[in-house]
Amino acid sequence: MKKTIKDIDLAGKRALVRVDYNVPVDEVTGKITDDSRIRETLPTLQYMLDAGASLVLMAHFGRPKGKVVESMRLKPIASHLQDLMKRDVQYATEAVGLEAEALAQNLGPGQILVLENTRFYPGEETNDPLFAAALAAPGYDVYVNDAFGAAHRAHASTAGVAQIIKAEGKPCVAGLLMARELEFLGQLLQNPQRPFVAILGGVKVSDKIGVIRNLLPKVDTLLVGGAMGYAFERAQNRPVGTSYFKEEDAPIAAELIELARENGYDFRLPSDFLVADRDAVDATTKIVPAGGIPDDMMGMDIGPETIANYSSVIENAKTVLWNGPMGRFEVAPFSRGTLQVAKAVARATDKGALTIIGGGDSAAAVKQMDLDDKMSHVSTGGGASLEFLEGQELPGVAVLNNKVS
Ligand code: 3PG
Repeated sequence: MKKTIKDIDLAGKRALVRVDYNVPVDEVTGKITDDSRIRETLPTLQYMLDAGASLVLMAHFGRPKGKVVESMRLKPIASHLQDLMKRDVQYATEAVGLEAEALAQNLGPGQILVLENTRFYPGEETNDPLFAAALAAPGYDVYVNDAFGAAHRAHASTAGVAQIIKAEGKPCVAGLLMARELEFLGQLLQNPQRPFVAILGGVKVSDKIGVIRNLLPKVDTLLVGGAMGYAFERAQNRPVGTSYFKEEDAPIAAELIELARENGYDFRLPSDFLVADRDAVDATTKIVPAGGIPDDMMGMDIGPETIANYSSVIENAKTVLWNGPMGRFEVAPFSRGTLQVAKAVARATDKGALTIIGGGDSAAAVKQMDLDDKMSHVSTGGGASLEFLEGQELPGVAVLNNKVS
């Protein structure tokens, strides 16, 4: 267990807080389209301010690759935070340097400063000790990581600067969001109530292979959907038509089928698919059984038989993890599988199950379907939750102080 902000004295302390404000924005207007990652940090920030700390916030936004990209400045995010917190939030146009340092040092208790995008500096992603030292330069009494979504990155703001502050004998602790993420996702890997059902979808098998391998021995049933399903079709020498599919995923899929067979794992693949002549709202669609995808059509969703089968497994579960949509849910005719699975997970929650959405596209799907309130926990981490579920220790978590038990 990691120490949290509740385990330390914050009165009069200057805290460096890493948050994940890498939020989706509208390409045309630049407006934030989903501010969950910002909102989810508010309890941490409020708790620390109430306890009398001053807060210097660090975050990355997008992938500017070590250069200043005007559209990736944190100014709009700082002003959105100001609106949400209903209090003044200062913004530094640099993350390091004299001006940022002076602003950080002049903060009084109860004040907040947002530093500029840490990824404008090449030293962030290389975890350069000099850049980490520059981030630490104002002098901090405490380091807090509330950026679960970025905790799988060993960057200067998530790892290097924390090491420096820790080496000075100062506390390095988890924020409340980080602690909640670790608690919920940790329950899946430690002592899940049974039956434990994992639903994995999304595009690439290679992205999920580590998770599937780690979860197969732990779950009672693993259900596969989404574009990954076509790699499993190909792995069984079945046609995939024009479905989105990566040839290199087929041998990985074959290996997983074999692993499940050898160990007698309950590993289920779709028994039918919804196929379309093209990826469009007005496409011609039909339902085909597994093994029957026509050459000139593409798989777009799981079919009704699979939906019924998966739904009944999910509804009877006591623990559910869902990561990755069942089909191309963004386009109406192909959203049914994802919607029905989301509804089944919601029904499981109503019946008392612990239900966790593992971030990324499936989190976006349950939000789009207005079912996020029906889940026990919707993770703010995409890649981070996958790496966590693979059983890896995340660098941004490893560095934090442990609770003495
Ligand atoms: C995310 O959006 O998953 C995190 O903020 C990490 O971003 P990254 O994949 O660009 O490192």
